[in-house]
Amino acid sequence: MSDGPLDQRYRINKALMRRAFDRAAHSYEDHAPLQKEVAQRMVQRLDLVKLNPRRVLDIGSATGRSTRMLAQRYPFAQVTALDLSLGMLRLARRATPMMDKWFMRRTTFTCADAEALPFATGSMELVFSNLTLQWCGEPERVLSEMRRVLAPGGLLMFSSFGPDTLKELRESFARADGFVHVHAFMDMHDLGDALLRVRFTNPVMDMEQFTLTYPDVDKLMRDLKALGAHNVSAGRAHGLTGKTRMQNMRAAYETWRRNGVLPASYEVVYGHAWAPEGELQKAHEGTVKIPLSSLRGRKNP
Ligand SMILES: C[S@@+](CC[C@H](N)C(=O)[O-])C[C@H]1O[C@@H](n2cnc3c(N)ncnc32)[C@H](O)[C@@H]1O
Repeated sequence: MSDGPLDQRYRINKALMRRAFDRAAHSYEDHAPLQKEVAQRMVQRLDLVKLNPRRVLDIGSATGRSTRMLAQRYPFAQVTALDLSLGMLRLARRATPMMDKWFMRRTTFTCADAEALPFATGSMELVFSNLTLQWCGEPERVLSEMRRVLAPGGLLMFSSFGPDTLKELRESFARADGFVHVHAFMDMHDLGDALLRVRFTNPVMDMEQFTLTYPDVDKLMRDLKALGAHNVSAGRAHGLTGKTRMQNMRAAYETWRRNGVLPASYEVVYGHAWAPEGELQKAHEGTVKIPLSSLRGRKNP
């Protein structure tokens, strides 16, 4: 696993991030129109691939919106919602229709870190992750874990934020002081390369630009806080950002105003890739798993 300068830029204070998402759990859904839209687009993309998974993993499931969409999309699958934030998971569990025993039986909730997935090698047929990878300090480690838990021929479908995300806020803060206020987001090409390094096959990457508009920058900052999208970069300034610096940042952001509103850019990166079919997978316990499909048709010696 590379731990070079590339990874350093994305370093995140995980404890801080988990606390931010715990606190934001109740406000999250009301402030997440973009996350909702992107999740829907990703589920639509699943229509384009031939897949009938029995085990599905939703990484960074937050309030479980996409978990429920996946459970509906694949009525015979066991769907696992995984998140680092217990607060988010509790809400996800509460929002899952309790009366619907069929739904409940097929959905499980796991509080764990995507960088160390608590699942057996080759145990999932679909790994889905909407706008979570950008929160993981070591995206390549997460991709490698996704790859490990996927069965041969399994699909990874994910979205993340690209470098242009919140560029106006990043630049406005940069003019106010020298600290990291908006953390770095990984480029689509780097993510594609990382997919190949961890031995995914046929990766497909693309991106879409979205612009949300705000009456003022304070409303944008409040929205980000309600989403749990705090500045949790390792290179952030410690302590409060001074009043003068905040005023300088607001003044700098005002230069972006068009037609009476302030834009906030989001670059959404989409990716999907496959776990190689028919590959020998070395399990952690030292055993070797051979996919059944690769044995079919073989004659005994
Ligand atoms: C922006 S939200 C995800 C959005 C959600 N998938 C949706 O469709 O609305 C990011 C989520 O990822 C979780 N998360 C961040 N880093 C994680 C990690 N390393 N492992 C597991 N979950 C993580 C956060 O707790 C948070 O709930």
